[in-house]
Amino acid sequence: MHSSEPRDEGVRGKDMKAAILGYGTVGSGVASVLENNSDVVAKSAGEQISVKYILDLREFPGDPNEDKVVHDIQVILDDPEVETVVETMGGVEPAFTFVSRALTSGRNVATSNKELVAKHGAELMELAAAHKVNFFFEASVGGGIPVLRAVEESLTADHIQKISGILNGTTNYMLTKMKNEGASYDQVLRQAQENGYAERDPAADVEGYDACRKIAILTSMVCGKQVDFEDIPTEGITKLTGVDFAYAKAMKGDIKLLGSSFMTEDGVFARVAPEIISDQSPLYSVNDVYNAVMFTGDMLGDVMLYGKGAGSLPTASAVVSDVIQTARNRGKTVPAAWKKDRLALADSRDFCCRFLVRIKGEPGSDLQELKKALGGAKLLRPEGMDGEYGLVTGPMKAGELEEVCSGIEGFISRMYIKD
Ligand code: HSE
Repeated sequence: MHSSEPRDEGVRGKDMKAAILGYGTVGSGVASVLENNSDVVAKSAGEQISVKYILDLREFPGDPNEDKVVHDIQVILDDPEVETVVETMGGVEPAFTFVSRALTSGRNVATSNKELVAKHGAELMELAAAHKVNFFFEASVGGGIPVLRAVEESLTADHIQKISGILNGTTNYMLTKMKNEGASYDQVLRQAQENGYAERDPAADVEGYDACRKIAILTSMVCGKQVDFEDIPTEGITKLTGVDFAYAKAMKGDIKLLGSSFMTEDGVFARVAPEIISDQSPLYSVNDVYNAVMFTGDMLGDVMLYGKGAGSLPTASAVVSDVIQTARNRGKTVPAAWKKDRLALADSRDFCCRFLVRIKGEPGSDLQELKKALGGAKLLRPEGMDGEYGLVTGPMKAGELEEVCSGIEGFISRMYIKD
C-alpha cells in the first residue's frame, strides 16, 4: 500500500476541499457546477465546497483551473485538507487503484464511473465503511437522474418486481435521430460524440455494454447482492436497420435499447436488448439523450424517473450531489447499497415473453404449423414490405423460440416485444 497518512480530522476548516481525478467531459463539468452553483451547493452542504486539485495526465493552458492541475495522485493523498475525491476518469484501472487508496486514506469518494461500480462497487463500499467514509456513485446510472438515491431512500416499502430502463443516452439519441430524421448511423454517432455523450470507445454504447453495467448496478441495489454484469445477456443496436423500425411502426410502437430485470419466483432475469415498445408505454416518448428508468413495485405499481442520461453538466450535477452527501454524512458511513455475495441470475432461455420473428420470402404451406409452434403467432406485413414477413409470437420461453427459429428456413432475426 502507499505511504500517505490518514487524514487528520483536526485540520478540517469550514470549507470542504475536493480533488477531481480526470478533467474530461464529466470532471470539467464538476468543476463548473461547484464554481457556478457555489451558492446553492453551500446552502445544501452547509459549507463551501471548492476544488483544490485536478489530477490529469494533460496540461490545460488557459483553463481557469490550470493552476490546480497535478499529475501525481500522491500530491492529493498527502494533502490533509482534501476530504473528498471525485473520480471521473472512467475505466477500471487506474481508477480502482486510485479510489481504493483514497478510501484507505480516509477520503470520501464520489464517482460517475459505471464500469468501476459494476465491477468493484460492493468491495469499495466495504472499504469505505472500514475507514468510516463514504463511496457514492449516483451519476453512474442515468446521468443526471437521481435514480439510485430514489431506490435507496424512497422505493423502500415495496418488493420491486421489474426494472425497465433506457439507460444509454448515446444510443437513445442515435435511435431517435435515425428514426425521425433518417440520419445515417455514422453521422449520428459522430454527433453523439461531439455532444460529449459517447464513451471513448463507442462500442461500449452501441453494443449495449454501458447499459449492461447500469442494469447490473440497479439490479444489485434492488436485490442487495452483487449481480455480475458478465452474466447479463447483452445485445446492442448495431444490427438494427430501417426494416426493423418499419415492423415496429406497423405494431404502433418503436424500438428502444432497454436494460431490464425481472424479480420472479423462478429467480432474477436480466438482459440488455433492443425491444419493441408500444406507444402506450411511458418509455415510448423518451427520446434523444434522455434516459428513463421504470420500476414496478408490488404496492406502488409503476414509477418512472426521467431526465438527461449523459452530457457534462447533467452528469456533473449528480456527482456534485454526492459530494454534498459526503459533507452531510461526515463521520458516518451510509449502509452499503449491496453486499459482495454474488446473485446467480436465472437462465435467460427460461424467460417467457413475446417476440417479433422476421423471415425471408413468402409465407409457405407450413404457415399454420409455424404459427402454432410460435405460441399462436400472428402474421405481420408492414405496408410495402417485400421479400420477407414477420410473425408476432404469443408468450413463449426464449429457449423454445430459439429452437423453433433454428429450424426456420429464411430466419432473419428475432426481437423482444416489451409487455
Ligand atoms: N455514454 C454514456 C451514455 C454516458 O451515452 O449514456 C453516460 O453514462
